[in-house]
Amino acid sequence: MEGKLVLVTGGAGFIGTHTVVQLLKEGFRVSIIDNFDNSVEEALDRVKEVVGWGLFFLQVDLRNKDDLEKVFAKSKFDGVIHFAGRKAVGESVEYPRRYFDNNLIGTINLYEVMAKYNCKKMVFSSSSTVYGQPEKIPCVEDTELKAMNPYGRTKLFLEEIARDISQAESDWQIILLRYFNPVAAHESGKIGEDPKGIPNNLMPYIQQVAVGRLPELNVYGHDYPTRDGTAIRDYIHVMDLADGHIAALKKLFTPDFKGCVPYNLGTGRGTSVLEMVAAFEKASGKKIPMKLCPRRAGDATAVYAAVDKAAKELGWKYVLLTS
Ligand code: WQD
Repeated sequence: MEGKLVLVTGGAGFIGTHTVVQLLKEGFRVSIIDNFDNSVEEALDRVKEVVGWGLFFLQVDLRNKDDLEKVFAKSKFDGVIHFAGRKAVGESVEYPRRYFDNNLIGTINLYEVMAKYNCKKMVFSSSSTVYGQPEKIPCVEDTELKAMNPYGRTKLFLEEIARDISQAESDWQIILLRYFNPVAAHESGKIGEDPKGIPNNLMPYIQQVAVGRLPELNVYGHDYPTRDGTAIRDYIHVMDLADGHIAALKKLFTPDFKGCVPYNLGTGRGTSVLEMVAAFEKASGKKIPMKLCPRRAGDATAVYAAVDKAAKELGWKYVLLTS
């Protein structure tokens, strides 16, 4: 793998920055593009502090095909890890057009430019939201896919597009990584989740309540048919998720890998909102004031991963967040 050049789209984001740190540690060369829609350039300065050397990055919006083309004209990429896109369920219900524009148009442009420059290896950031509210949990990769919010639908459409492309053009090698709920941060504390504005996701919201930036946590739904009435998710450490991308990338460079294959990246365990708050309070010693609110539109009751396939085929191991 030594020296292979990887383009990381959305590389200034939460999962992007953590994956860039691991890619560089593994000896890959990295170019980053990001439109800073939900991230800041300063996050890349913090990555430089962690890795100790400079990074090549450009502010590029994937919806600007000319700008994207200039990136590929300048460098011969061995593969792409595609993170760029909006990713909040609640926000997508409110602003679906923003999600279809950002996530679909950008990715379709990326496929076109990659094909033109004969770069046909992609690790795609998919999501557990493609499972909607699965009949059976834990979710196995061949579970029927039925997204239940615009964000999940963009990921489902993009998975279908990936499958169609690899069906029609057998030289594409694509791995779809279905993230469950990424949380936590690099041990240095220099990089982490720093969304713009009011956080949509549970953990950054709790963190901002803990530091006094927000007054209290709204708990969306306490009448779910779960052990404590709040929704259950599979929270996975972002460094484990980053390592999952390295394992997937290495798989793409093996001669036997063909086509378009999905893998869950989760821990296989479900944790409720109230259990997450209790764990955070225990670990931080901070009390998190809460307000019980109605359910959030688009939310599933309980979703967590079956993780055998990634372990078996990618040799990827996860570490449970809580013992
Ligand atoms: C988790 C739970 C909320 C905020 C995320 C990512 C998505 C995908 C899947 C990667 C839900 C509740 C939240 C708050 C709350 N991952 N909640 N108060 O919706 O599961 O989706 O994981 O692709 O990208 O967004 O995550 O953190 O928004 O919600 O009660 O202020 O916490 O209702 O039950 P979600 P989330």
